[in-house]
Amino acid sequence: MRHFLTPSDFSKEEWRNLLDLAERIKNDPKRYAHVADGKKIATLFYEPSTRTRLSFETAMINLGGSVIGFHSADSSSVSKGESVADTIRIIGCFADICAMRHPKEGAPMVAASVSPIPVINAGDGGHQHPSQTLTDLFTIRSLKGRLEDLTIGICGDLKYGRTVHSLIRALSEYSGIRFVLISPQALRIPSYVREETLEKNSIPYQEVEKLEDVIGDLDILYMTRIQKERFFNEEEYNRLKDSYVLDMHKMDMAKKDMLVLHPLPRVNEIAPEVDNDPRAVYFKQVQYGVYARMALIMTLLNLEEPSC
Ligand code: CP
Repeated sequence: MRHFLTPSDFSKEEWRNLLDLAERIKNDPKRYAHVADGKKIATLFYEPSTRTRLSFETAMINLGGSVIGFHSADSSSVSKGESVADTIRIIGCFADICAMRHPKEGAPMVAASVSPIPVINAGDGGHQHPSQTLTDLFTIRSLKGRLEDLTIGICGDLKYGRTVHSLIRALSEYSGIRFVLISPQALRIPSYVREETLEKNSIPYQEVEKLEDVIGDLDILYMTRIQKERFFNEEEYNRLKDSYVLDMHKMDMAKKDMLVLHPLPRVNEIAPEVDNDPRAVYFKQVQYGVYARMALIMTLLNLEEPSC
């Protein structure tokens, strides 16, 4: 049984297989409409979500399966004090696979350690969000044609942004990747990402504060929200919340084929005027996330690909 808790749970070859399967699904989704007939996914969300939960649920329904779950801790027996470990043992009696989001870093790992079914980390605190990364890599590969030889700018809250930590880990496996990390001093990447991924693998990167200084160098600009819910101090959040606003003035300084991604939700960091620029692909990214999660569910459940 496999779990998907961090990007490192799959080898580079397994990532390629997942992305190839997502591509085949995107090209002919109807062919996969019954591969998960009779299967159930449990979506256990202890923290709010729009995209990730509904994307997993849509993915399972598109595969012919069905969905159970809860969308807040308040609506489950967690509010009576039930532990994550007991919850997953119970859910294992009902479902074949589970996607779990939790505000505490490591909670899906605790669940996986006792789980009778595959557990997908759908975001744990400010730590990791690997299925978003699968979505991001699939979007980049589909629209750019490659995952190698790219200058990737990541802008915003690099300290608490779990999508950023997973993205850096996964992209570091590809040759010719260079990161430009754009954030206020107070929101730089955590030291474990710097030491265990970037420096350990000799990945070139630079850290800067001003987006305007580097936007012209980028092949991909990955914008992120300042993660209000992770701040201990509201004053500090208010000081940093509008550090970056991508507008058409800045887009004019970028390459004509630079792509703008964002895991969403956005607050103010991308002006609505950018939405109509063909380089803005963050809404397309959401659709690609469904194909990516269909591929992930098929892989973790060992579902056979239908014959042509
Ligand atoms: N990208 C993402 O995790 O969005 P949600 O919080 O809406 O799931």
